[in-house]
Amino acid sequence: MTEVVLDIADLSAGYGSQAIIEHITLQLVSEEIAVIIGPNGAGKSTLLKQVFGLNQHLAGDIRFNGSSIINVKTSDLVPLGISAVPQSSNVFPTLTVSENLQIGTYASPPADKKAARERVLQLFPDLRSKLKQAAGELSGGQRQMVAIGRALMSEPQLLLLDEPTAGLSPAYLEKIFDLILQIRDTGVTILMVEQNARQALRIADIAYVLANGRHAHSGTGAELLASDKVRRMFLGGTGR
Ligand SMILES: Nc1ncnc2c1ncn2[C@@H]1O[C@H](COP(=O)(O)OP(=O)(O)OP(=O)(O)O)[C@@H](O)[C@H]1O
Ligand SMILES: [Mg+2]
Repeated sequence: MTEVVLDIADLSAGYGSQAIIEHITLQLVSEEIAVIIGPNGAGKSTLLKQVFGLNQHLAGDIRFNGSSIINVKTSDLVPLGISAVPQSSNVFPTLTVSENLQIGTYASPPADKKAARERVLQLFPDLRSKLKQAAGELSGGQRQMVAIGRALMSEPQLLLLDEPTAGLSPAYLEKIFDLILQIRDTGVTILMVEQNARQALRIADIAYVLANGRHAHSGTGAELLASDKVRRMFLGGTGR
C-alpha cells in the first residue's frame, strides 16, 4: 500500500502568534514509520501537537487521508483514527492500569471496548498482572506501555508518539522499539519523535531532522544514518 495517510504541507505553527515551526513539509505513507529527530527545543513536540489539533496553526495544511484536519478538534481526531502519546504526563498516576486503558476508548462503541483491551493486552502481556495497580506505581517502561496501550485502545490508523523511550534503560528501550515495529505490523502508521536517534533511524522508513523549527535534513532512516552531518550532530560517539 502506498497511499499517503498524513500530508503536512508548508506548515507553520506555534503558541499564540509566535511561530515555533515554519515551512514544514512531510508525507507519511500508510503503514510506514516516520521519525523526527532534532535538538532540544527544536519544535519536535510542537509539530506532533499541531497534528493532534493542539496549539496555534499559522499557515500551511495538514491532511489526513486526503482531508484537511487543520480545523478539526482533538476530540474529533480520535474517532477519525488519530491517537497520540504525549512526551510527559501520559498516564493518570492515581488511576489503575485498567482505568487508564479504558480512557482510550471514550469515543468507541461499547461492543468494541473489550476487544480493544484484549488486543492491547496481547501486545503488552506484562500489563495483564498489573491491571488493578495504580499506573503511578509502575516502572517507567511499564508506564510507557500503559500510555501506548491507551492510545491503541481507539484502534488508530495513525499513532503519534513523542519520545516513547525517554528515560528508559537499554533493555526497555529495545523492548519499546520492538513493540513499535509490532504495532506498525498490525497496520498502524506511526509518526514519532525520538532522542535515541540511532535506534530510531534504524526502524524509520522516513526521517526528518528539525532544527530551530525548520527542516534541516530528511531522507530514509538508512540515508540519515549514513549522513556525515547527521552522524556529527546526533550520533556522535555516544552510541545512541
Ligand atoms: N505551551 C507553550 N507555550 C509557549 N511556548 C512553548 C510552549 N511549549 C513549547 N514552547 C516553546 O516552543 C519551542 C519548541 O518546544 P518543543 O517542546 O516543541 O521542543 P522539542 O523539540 O520537543 O524539545 P525537547 O527535545 O526538549 O522535547 C521551545 O522554545 C519552547 O520553549
Ligand atoms: Mg519535545
